[in-house]
Amino acid sequence: MSPAGGVRRLLVRNLAQLATPPGSDSPLRGRALGEVDVLEDAYVLCSGDTIEAVGRMRDLGPVGDEVDELDATGLCAIPGLVDCHTHACFVGDRVDEFALRARGASYEELHAAGGGIMSTVRATRSAGEVALAEAVNRHRDWMLRAGTTTFESKSGYGLDRETELASLRAIRAAGGVPTWLGAHAVPPEFPGADSYLDFLLAEVLPEASKLAEAADVFLERGAFAEAQARRYLEACAASGLTPRLHGDQFTEQGAVPLAIEIGARSVDHLEATGTEGVAALGGSSVTAVLLPASALFLGRPMPPGRALVDAGAIVALATDFNPGSAFCESLPLVCSLAATQIGLSPAEAFAACTVNAAHVLGRGDTLGRLAPGRAADIVLLDAPDWRYLAYHLGGNLVTGVILKGAPAELR
Ligand code: NIG
Ligand code: FE
Repeated sequence: MSPAGGVRRLLVRNLAQLATPPGSDSPLRGRALGEVDVLEDAYVLCSGDTIEAVGRMRDLGPVGDEVDELDATGLCAIPGLVDCHTHACFVGDRVDEFALRARGASYEELHAAGGGIMSTVRATRSAGEVALAEAVNRHRDWMLRAGTTTFESKSGYGLDRETELASLRAIRAAGGVPTWLGAHAVPPEFPGADSYLDFLLAEVLPEASKLAEAADVFLERGAFAEAQARRYLEACAASGLTPRLHGDQFTEQGAVPLAIEIGARSVDHLEATGTEGVAALGGSSVTAVLLPASALFLGRPMPPGRALVDAGAIVALATDFNPGSAFCESLPLVCSLAATQIGLSPAEAFAACTVNAAHVLGRGDTLGRLAPGRAADIVLLDAPDWRYLAYHLGGNLVTGVILKGAPAELR
């Protein structure tokens, strides 16, 4: 609120460029994925937490007295980035494991030996709810500094009732969009995946379904099998959660057909997806969420992003931020990887981490575009051209973030 009690307004003026996915359709696929509206010498006017107007400086009329102004000479404005797949609710790190992997140990071997995900589970369980909340807030601040104004985070490092529910509460309290990943790994106190699922569905789902928006499962050799993933997601969907899957990360285990059959919102990873899976996703309404930072971090093949876009699939990009397979919170870096490693144009990468990522989170009508009536979440790039988002590899190009119409403090 302004001192006068009216709605606070903010005018960002003299932008070198304002870039946004065009139109109002969500999600985008095919040729539409590669289109960007660019205004040169532009402004954006925010009113409260909403965009009131965007346009060229030469068309800017009187805006009244009660307006804060931000001079953005030499900067580009893009919509706040949306990270639709992270595991930000963890305590501790896996830097020792990283060093072992650098010398040749494999991620799957470390997991099978009780390290990997389970070592983060031990640290997260013993941390307590306050430390857990602090960790999510710290990770959110890192993401914001990289231009992420909306993040999804999964639970999945508790794997017991108390810590899974505490994780979902901490994500929600930090402003994130919570996804229940109870089915991330089978903890050692259970003899197998089926009895662990019995416990999850009977003891955790009733509360988790009140806290989370979506449910996710790690469908992979050594984690959960297709029939188990189906059972978990069907029960979660019946309780109102949107189904999503980790699928085809290392091997094809039926994740794509299952995702299509049950009408999942997304299937994520896809590094191992072959031509049949690509074609099936191309004709479906399931979003293919690509996580190239994870492929890079684990030295795995990149997902078939170009083929998916050419097949007409709905494609989104995300970081997969987590301590084991992708210790990376930067969507700009992910855009660089998409452009240099998987053949997406800067425009396709841009849509994939704005409007299409917003669609994955069920927010395609409010987030991911700079247009009147949309959320006033804006990233200012220290760049003369918005395509630096992908072009400036590892660059520190986010110089300002406007969150709900107000400049955010970047920590
Ligand atoms: O998406 N693959 C499963 N889960 C995460 C990694 C979790 C971890 O290693 O802690 C992923 O890569
Ligand atoms: Fe993941």
